[in-house]
This record gives sequence, C-alpha cells and structure tokens, in this order.
Amino acid sequence: MALSFFSKNKKALLNRCRDDYPTKMRLKYDPYYHAIEAQSGTNIRLDGRDMIMLSSNDYLGLSFHPKVIEAGAAALRKWGTSPTGARPSNGSRAYHVELEEKLANFLGREACHVHAAGYLSCIASIASFAQRGDIIFADKNIHSCLWDGIRLSMGTVERFSHNNPDDFRSAAESVNPDAPKMLIVEGVYSMEGHICQLPDIIKIADEYDCFNVLDDAHGFGVLGRQGRGTVDHFGLNEKVDVICGSLSKSLASTGGFIAGSNEVIDYLRTNSKQTIFSAALSPAQAAIASTALDIMQTEPEHHERLWSNTKKYNAILKNLGINTWSSETPAIPIVLGSKERVYHFWKALLEKGIFSVMSIAPAVPPCKDLVRTAISAMHTDEQLEQIAEAMAYAVKKVG
Ligand SMILES: Cc1ncc(COP(=O)(O)O)c(C=O)c1O
Repeated sequence: MALSFFSKNKKALLNRCRDDYPTKMRLKYDPYYHAIEAQSGTNIRLDGRDMIMLSSNDYLGLSFHPKVIEAGAAALRKWGTSPTGARPSNGSRAYHVELEEKLANFLGREACHVHAAGYLSCIASIASFAQRGDIIFADKNIHSCLWDGIRLSMGTVERFSHNNPDDFRSAAESVNPDAPKMLIVEGVYSMEGHICQLPDIIKIADEYDCFNVLDDAHGFGVLGRQGRGTVDHFGLNEKVDVICGSLSKSLASTGGFIAGSNEVIDYLRTNSKQTIFSAALSPAQAAIASTALDIMQTEPEHHERLWSNTKKYNAILKNLGINTWSSETPAIPIVLGSKERVYHFWKALLEKGIFSVMSIAPAVPPCKDLVRTAISAMHTDEQLEQIAEAMAYAVKKVG
C-alpha cells in the first residue's frame, strides 16, 4: 500500500488545495464563515455575544416580517419542501408562475423567469444570449457572476472604466461594427454603492445596437417607484432588454430572476443551461419573495425607513471623515486602501459588537480594499448610535 505522503504529492490538485496561500491567510485571520448562533432582525449572537448585523443585504428589513414568515411556512405545508428537479423535466409549479407574473408586472415587463439563485439568473442573462463572435461591453467593476456569464458565453469582452460613458464610447468605436453586441452594467454597484450612469451609457449602447443587460440585485427594492429599481429610477424601461437580479436582498428570500420581453424569456427557456438543468426555486422561497413583493407595494414605510437610516448613517460616517467612495445608496463601503488597514478596522468593529465584512483585492480594485457595510430599514436609532460609537473607535484605532 502506498504511503499517504507519496500519493498526496502525485495529485497536483490536492497539492494546490493544501498549498493555497489565500486559504492559509483566510484560516489564519478568520474573517469569513463565522457561524452566527442566533438572529432576530439586525440583532445577532456570535460567540455568545450580542451584536449588530451591518453587512447583510436585507435592505427593506423584510426577513423577519410576520407576513413574510407566515407565507413561507404556509407554502411549505401546501407544497412540501422542494420541487426536487428542473422545470422542463418535472414541471413548473403555480407558485413559480405566480411570482414570475408578479415580478414581470412590477417591472413593467412582458415576462420573467425565476431561478434558485441570483448567481444563476445573472450568469444565464449573459450566457444564454451572447455567443462566440459577439462583442460584450462590460463595466470593469461588475459582479463575479456576470464575469462567469461572459466566460461561458465565449463572446469577446471589452471592459470599460467603471461607470464611465466616455470610456464605453471609446471601446464601442474600436470594435467590428458588424458584430452582434451586448452591454452589461449593474444598476447599483454592490461594493461601491454607485448608481449606474444609465442615461448616458444607454444612449451610447443604443447608437451601437447593443442588447442591454442590467443586474439590479442592489437597485431592486431600493431605487425607483416602490423599489422598482434603477431602470424605473431613470424612466428607461424601454431601453433595457434584460433586467436580472436577486431575491436574496430586498425580497428577503433566496433565488434570482430575469425579466424581459416574451421573446427573450421564451428563448432563455429553450437555450439556457442554467435554466434547463438546475432544480427550480423552492416553494417557501418563492412564497417569501412573492409576499415581500406585495409588502413593497402596500407598506411604503420600509422604503422610507431605509432611506432615512441611510441618510443618518452617511452623516455619521461623514462626520468621522470616513471615505465611502461616494456611495449613493444603502450599500456603503468604508474604503481603507490596504488589506492590513481593512483587517484592523473590521476587527475593531467586531470588538465593539458590529458585524461587517472585509472586501479586499482582487474582489475590489487595487487600493480600494474596504469594509463593506449595508444599511437596513430594520436598524433602530439605538443601533445607529452604537454603530456610530464603534465607527469612532475603529477610526481612532486604525488612524
Ligand atoms: C450584483 C450582484 N449580482 C448578483 C448576485 C448574486 O445573487 P445571489 O446572492 O442571490 O446568488 C449578487 C450577490 O451578492 C450581487 O451582488
């Protein structure tokens, strides 16, 4: 029998896992995957300590809304736990169709398709439509799922500077005018909290006949009438071909969606591997998203509270001279510029009972290493005060 250390050395991929430097650093400094022991709204318990959650994307604070919880529980009782398969093979369910109709209607679209993860929806929004030979214009700072979609599509990518219409124009001028073209942007950039310069960017995209894809994971629920998102915020519904997004942020569920015309969604259902070969959204998650969507339209106080909290939080950070990368939305980075500074700032917040998340290069551009924070409608004034004290402490500590 071979000795284990000999066989280990033969398997290059096992060696890769064992020797991986980022993994070693992650295990050493331990900033991720902490197991929270209990949660009630923005209150969490970690290692026996009560803390405030400041990094989840529960913008409207609906994840503990009694009607949302009851909808999930009722769906479980009625439909069981899971559709246990993909929709082409074992059928859609009434709750998929209902949620898709509601989302399409809310977004002013003809049709919609939901997936079991936002990541899947966003990959599918690119990989199902673009193909080899197509040119894909992409903002440099788009989310990882969109890069994965680009890679799978085999299209040729042309990156342009973040949120920079002039650079997009230069890229558009430089490519084969006859190739089919796609544009990919986010409505609200998840790390930066920037709102896409959509009017200027779409104008150029129109000149070059681009098929426009907008990931509104962080704009949905936050911008536009009743939270209809970035496209609605700018009144540009006719100009964007596909809106994709997540059910796991403002809709307090998990899953994702793609909204577009009937033609586009029918094509997706025929051609998208992520749609055809992955198990469908579960009944509880669909019911949760569906009820949260109803609440967005009937209880405006959550949206109002989200923005008043965002204003208060921004004032706290501004007062302390914190660099927030000019975030305009409830996704607010604290830019510290190096992973060492990020680590110490994050640790100081943790010490003071605030749970946030470190985002370091390559997840963010070089020198933009940051602590990502996100405000929720559920944060109370007392919590904001505690957050303010913790921020002051972290600023003092990191200098
Ligand atoms: C911009 C953006 N798109 C897509 C996703 C993927 O969504 P989900 O987490 O629901 O899979 C995320 C998740 O963080 C995101 O920030």
